[in-house]
Amino acid sequence: MSATFRLTRPFQHDGGHAFVADAPPRFLEKVASGEYFITVLENGKDLGPGHASHGEIREIGCGRYSTWGNSIWFSASDNSNCAKNGRAYSVMAVDVSDRSALYRTMIDRAVPDDGSLLAILAQNAQRHDGVLGGFFRQRNAMRHWIDLTGLGVPRRITEIGCGGTPWTGLRFLLEGTERFVAADIVTVQDAFSAAQLRDLRTTCEQFEPSLTARWDEVLPPGEPYIRPLGLCAQSEIDFDTMVMDDGIDFTMSTSVMQRVMDPEGAYRKLAQATPPGGFMFHAIDLRDNRHFDADPLAFLALGEEEYAQIRSGNRLRASQHRALIEAQGFEVVMERGFVLGPNGGHSWVRHGEDFAPGVTEAQREQLAPAFRALDLRDLSTTSVQMLCRRR
Ligand SMILES: C[S@@+](CC[C@H](N)C(=O)[O-])C[C@H]1O[C@@H](n2cnc3c(N)ncnc32)[C@H](O)[C@@H]1O
Repeated sequence: MSATFRLTRPFQHDGGHAFVADAPPRFLEKVASGEYFITVLENGKDLGPGHASHGEIREIGCGRYSTWGNSIWFSASDNSNCAKNGRAYSVMAVDVSDRSALYRTMIDRAVPDDGSLLAILAQNAQRHDGVLGGFFRQRNAMRHWIDLTGLGVPRRITEIGCGGTPWTGLRFLLEGTERFVAADIVTVQDAFSAAQLRDLRTTCEQFEPSLTARWDEVLPPGEPYIRPLGLCAQSEIDFDTMVMDDGIDFTMSTSVMQRVMDPEGAYRKLAQATPPGGFMFHAIDLRDNRHFDADPLAFLALGEEEYAQIRSGNRLRASQHRALIEAQGFEVVMERGFVLGPNGGHSWVRHGEDFAPGVTEAQREQLAPAFRALDLRDLSTTSVQMLCRRR
């Protein structure tokens, strides 16, 4: 339930326009539950913006506030002295849990409003852990590659770096996959909220009705959570140390293989887990994640010692991933690279196709010695997708 708590004087002056008050203990209990929106009031009216930095509260004030630990940092709407201006200051914890009237009202308003609904969908689609990204987009992105394998729906799949919510795994299980191992260094949930699944089923009935055929088999009834049959969540495990199942038909990863610190060991492990005729697909980001677009190859100029300070990945180029993969007994069935051209633009190019590289000889000379011997086309490839078959 929403509640308001009066802040009691004396307030401590923290420089400039900032004042600090102790947060009431019952307010802190509500904050800790994570189900409340917090606001600070001056004579019953909202102050703001909230989540301001302490520097902004001191220097700009004008109602800026923030909650920090057991204290509230705030400023008066007109930058008067909060300790002496005689106004009442209070904090309000507004219940925004999914049981609250406010939340239900927001949903009721969004439903008939196509604009709000589309805005919510568009934002959810951007999240890599969201249902649209995992259950729909990621599956669709994999369709082309899986079609090339001729496997139909793979029977046993491993996804390395699935994110926290294995929506893609759930999707494959509903399509007929028998076992889906969902692994990540973050916590991977192994159960879904029954209420969310009811809504997902209704959504599928509207847009992908074939996905409901195996629903009750994969998702036995349960409350409040349901564990999909065949889903194996491997939580908080680095792929470098993960023990893999045997007999995997299809392994997939997106933006992970550039991060494993023992890539040779990783591909060896994949070779051991994949029987002859099995496949793996990797989308590998080859850019410096400090400057994705501005200077994607900046990290290649750093010597080993300098790079050791940041070491955000293994820095292998596309040709080096391919060589390690082939040495472990895979053939690369299809490969395409996202390549930088001379005009600074990017395009997708199939491996072996000719293209004018964006990286010049002069730029190559600036790189660390380990990268100077590489082909300009290899250096111009900033991400790569590879479908590989075990010989
Ligand atoms: C860019 S996200 C991609 C998530 C999802 N596959 C997708 O396409 O939306 C990369 C994921 O890989 C995970 N990851 C990074 N390094 C990893 C490692 N060494 N072993 C396992 N997972 C890793 C991250 O935690 C993150 O969830």
